[in-house]
Order: sequence, then structure tokens, then C-alpha cells
Amino acid sequence: MSQRPVLLFDSGIGGLTVLREARVLMPERRFVYVVDDAGFPYGSWGEDELTERIVGLFAKLIARYEPELCVIACNTASTLVLEHLRKAFAATPFVGTVPAIKPAAERTRSGLVSVLATPGTVKRAYTRDLIQSFAAQCHVRLVGSENLAGIAERYIRGDTIEPDEVLAEIAPCFVEQEAHKTDIVVLACTHYPFLANQFRSLAPWPVDWLDPAEAIAKRAQSLLAPVQAAWEEPDTAVFTSNEPDFAVKRLMSGFGLALAPMHH
Ligand code: DGL
Repeated sequence: MSQRPVLLFDSGIGGLTVLREARVLMPERRFVYVVDDAGFPYGSWGEDELTERIVGLFAKLIARYEPELCVIACNTASTLVLEHLRKAFAATPFVGTVPAIKPAAERTRSGLVSVLATPGTVKRAYTRDLIQSFAAQCHVRLVGSENLAGIAERYIRGDTIEPDEVLAEIAPCFVEQEAHKTDIVVLACTHYPFLANQFRSLAPWPVDWLDPAEAIAKRAQSLLAPVQAAWEEPDTAVFTSNEPDFAVKRLMSGFGLALAPMHH
């Protein structure tokens, strides 16, 4: 039985946090998980170069997989290229992942919210606009972490990570101002939920760590029609490098993903 897939895209393993939720909501669906590991990390790319790269990749991916819908499971990419992708591939619906600033502003009681993201996401006009539109009444601290996405990649591969290196990245999220303290940290990079337990145990005080994965999966589901017949084959993972290492291959098979080559 054929089924047009839902394509999920990230620069690394982060999008798996979204795939996990999407599978819970849509167990009958076929998924293709695309990792632009040859371009990782996205956080430090220039905006024009990154836009060109991702639009070019999608020209190939859409031609090859004819996805019913694409999920850009990456904040660094979504805040930049979502608009370009929608324009370039008007027949394909795209769901993006952008910092959960609106729900954070609705939930905070102290009015102090932090957004933990890559340096790219922190720089985006899109992120500033979200704050202006939805969190003008809050004090929002943007924390652009150079290293956390890489640390999450190492952690998921089974490498040791030092508590101090994680703490150094999250410490700027914790703000105290006139008897008020940060009470929500938005996880605005899909890699970070893999480190949520570390964050919790290292945090100087308890906060809500906001992970938007479920909301993104729900949004994707709301745009899809019910399937005729469940997909019973393994799902597919594609790496732009074509050379994931052993630990990553193991991880993919643990997620029920069979590797397929990326044709350049
Ligand atoms: N997972 C990506 C995000 O949500 C970024 C990781 C990276 O390439 O630095 O922003």
C-alpha cells in the first residue's frame, strides 16, 4: 500500500523530539526523517547561505518523496526559510517550529521568560517580532547558545557530557529582578528536550521547560486528512552526508528508521 509521507527535517537529531510526538498522534502515518548533518550546526550559518541551501535541498526532497506535508523540525531553519519554502513549493504544506514565546507569555506568573535557542534563532527578525507581538508585557531574555546543540548530539551518541559545560550554557536563562525570578524557559531548539533532565537537575531554581513538540505534531495532524490504510513498513531516515556514524545508525534503528541514501 503506498502512502505519501510526512517529511520531517532538521540539521541533526533534534527533529526526533518532534517525530516522537507525531508518531503518538499519527501511528498509521508514513514518515521520512531528513537530517542535514552535512550542514550541522545551523546556528552559525549566514542567513542567505542557509536559505539557499535549504531551499535547494527541498527541491530534491519534494521531487523524490512527494510528501503530503513537511515539518521543519528546527527553529533555526523555520525562523528563516519557512516563508521562502512556502513560496517556492506552493503545492506542499509546511509546518514550522518557532520559539513558543506566545504560550510562555500566557503562562508566566513572574513575567520573566527566557528563550534558549541557537545563536541563529536569537538573531532572527522573526523571533523579535514574536516577542513584540505576544510578549511585550514580559521581560524576555534571549539566550543564544553556541554549544548546546552539539552537546545534545554528543549526549545522544552516548558520549560523556560534563555538568559544568551544560550549566554554563543554561545559566544566563536564570534572571532575578526585584524579588521576581524567571519561571519559564522556552526550549527553542529541537535538540534541547533531549537534555531536559540535565537542565532540571542543574537549574538554580525550578522553572517550566517549555517543549513545543506536541503542539507541532498536533498542528501537522490538523492539516492532514485521515489515511486510507496504515503504513506498515519501516520509516526512512536520510542523511545529507550519507555517512552517519555507528552510534547515529543505532539511534535511527532504535527509532524504527531505515537509512536511505541522499542523492545529490
Ligand atoms: N535543532 C535545530 C533547532 O531547532 C538547530 C540545531 C543546530 O543546527 O544548531 O534550532
